[in-house]
Amino acid sequence: MKRIFLYLFAFTPLAYLLSRLFILNNVADPIKYIYTITGVSATVILFLSIIISLIKNKINLLKYRKEVGLLGFFYALLHLLTFIVLDAQFDLEFVIKETLDKPFIYLGMIAFFILLFMGLTSTKKLFKKYNKYHKLVYVSLILITIHWIMAQKSINISQFIYIFIIIVIGYFKLLQMIIKKAS
Ligand code: HEM
Repeated sequence: MKRIFLYLFAFTPLAYLLSRLFILNNVADPIKYIYTITGVSATVILFLSIIISLIKNKINLLKYRKEVGLLGFFYALLHLLTFIVLDAQFDLEFVIKETLDKPFIYLGMIAFFILLFMGLTSTKKLFKKYNKYHKLVYVSLILITIHWIMAQKSINISQFIYIFIIIVIGYFKLLQMIIKKAS
């Protein structure tokens, strides 16, 4: 039953995006808007998957972690498709050139491939073998943060809040690791 709420929550940004693009028709720059909704949704949902790990001793939501992670990856994939289909119009040369020329794009690409690796190794069997590498999600989130700031070319208030949240999460993760080592 609770899974329905998870999916309702996760698909709300997509429904909102589609309704603005195709029903309300009130988006001035559709490609930029799709980047924003898919990029921010992917980031927020991936954060939730990390929070699930951090609070596991207090509230056990671990059974939802994999699905939350995959839902975040789904938005990251839509974000990448925006680049390949709408921006590059399947011009592979353009994709490669932009990726090599613009640091914020290749940082996004590295972050995406980390998420892809995690998605592909999230099956029960592969997770047992590769779960130690799933800590790379933290690297991915740091890259995404830099990618976001570079894409905006300046830091605004929402990014300040976002960086603050990253620092708080990093602090709690460090604390958790120290306590685990000491016990
Ligand atoms: C796969 C490679 C990626 C490419 C080619 C890419 C491309 C872009 C581009 C071109 C923008 C700027 C859009 C604009 O304002 O005009 C952008 C912004 C953004 N991207 Fe990515 N990105 C990638 C990966 C990711 C990933 C993996 C995430 C998060 C999981 C992400 C999150 C964001 C966010 C949050 C923004 C800022 C949105 C805004 O505030 O407008 N990106 N990306």
